[in-house]
Amino acid sequence: MANKNPLEIELCGIKFKNPVITASGTFGYGIEYSRFIDISKLGGISIKGLSLHVVSGNKMPRIIETPAGMLNAIGLQNIGVDRFLTEKLPMLKKYKTNIIVNFWGKTIDEYVEVARKLDVADIHMLEMNISCPNIKEGGIAFGTDPKMTEKVVTAVKKNIKNKPLIVKLSPNVTDIKLFAKICENSGADAISAINTLLGMSIDIVTKKPHISNVTGGLSGPAIKPVAVRMVYEVFKTVNIPIIGIGGIMNYRDVVEFFIAGASAIQVGTANFVDPETTLKIIEDLSKYIEENRINNISELTGSLDI
Ligand SMILES: Cc1cc2nc3c(=O)[nH]c(=O)nc-3n(C[C@H](O)[C@H](O)[C@H](O)COP(=O)(O)O)c2cc1C
Repeated sequence: MANKNPLEIELCGIKFKNPVITASGTFGYGIEYSRFIDISKLGGISIKGLSLHVVSGNKMPRIIETPAGMLNAIGLQNIGVDRFLTEKLPMLKKYKTNIIVNFWGKTIDEYVEVARKLDVADIHMLEMNISCPNIKEGGIAFGTDPKMTEKVVTAVKKNIKNKPLIVKLSPNVTDIKLFAKICENSGADAISAINTLLGMSIDIVTKKPHISNVTGGLSGPAIKPVAVRMVYEVFKTVNIPIIGIGGIMNYRDVVEFFIAGASAIQVGTANFVDPETTLKIIEDLSKYIEENRINNISELTGSLDI
């Protein structure tokens, strides 16, 4: 029997009305965008990465446009987990969309503490960003060190009761398959991939870097082929669902990520170009599914023909 809503998916036991989720850091705390779009139409929203304490981020300038993308070094600016829970969540939960909360810490203890605070009703899933610097352990990013990845995923998973844990992988590694497998073995319920790729841009007149942090994270269409390749590699390696991210601008990009192995997707930089991108994608995906007589979009996951 045909599914009534062919875009409806289930991710780690959570129902999504469609697989379109806004990516962390590109959609604020969700509510800001309600002035522009009906956020209840979205499958989900991934909130700006939260930490234990308020973080004011890096010095300006923090973003620069690049060919087919942008570089950012915001520095994980956020209002902190407590203010999110008291000021933002009560407003956000009124919308009929799934709330995924992205979070990070400087140490394993901080990761665990933030995750425990977020283990509350009204939050559907947690998304752990393991691509940020680990100050206590000597500045190595958690997501680029296999041992640290294992430790932090195991510790967080042990300390949250029923909330599915998505681990967001860094693309700045030689072999993303290794990290995906470690996450799965350490208890991750899903993988999101990818975060931004390290990049740099220089003003040739002043010879200064365009952003104060010198290097930044590259996002947008420029990274899509890298992201699709990484989703494909992760899909072949793990049995947990993958949320594909990287340069998605339209429904064709979404279909491509699904074929590579994604079960859902996130849209980031495109929200800055046009805040209605996600709604257009949902509309176009519906047409695509109907025209191609697909019962449910999940049939496309991992359907690569080689
Ligand atoms: C301005 C900006 C801020 C971001 N902040 C976060 C963040 O706080 N946590 C996180 O996990 N990813 C963050 N990201 C990464 C995005 O969620 C996404 O993984 C990346 O931009 C690739 O997707 P896109 O090409 O569709 O933008 C940020 C990206 C941008 C552009």
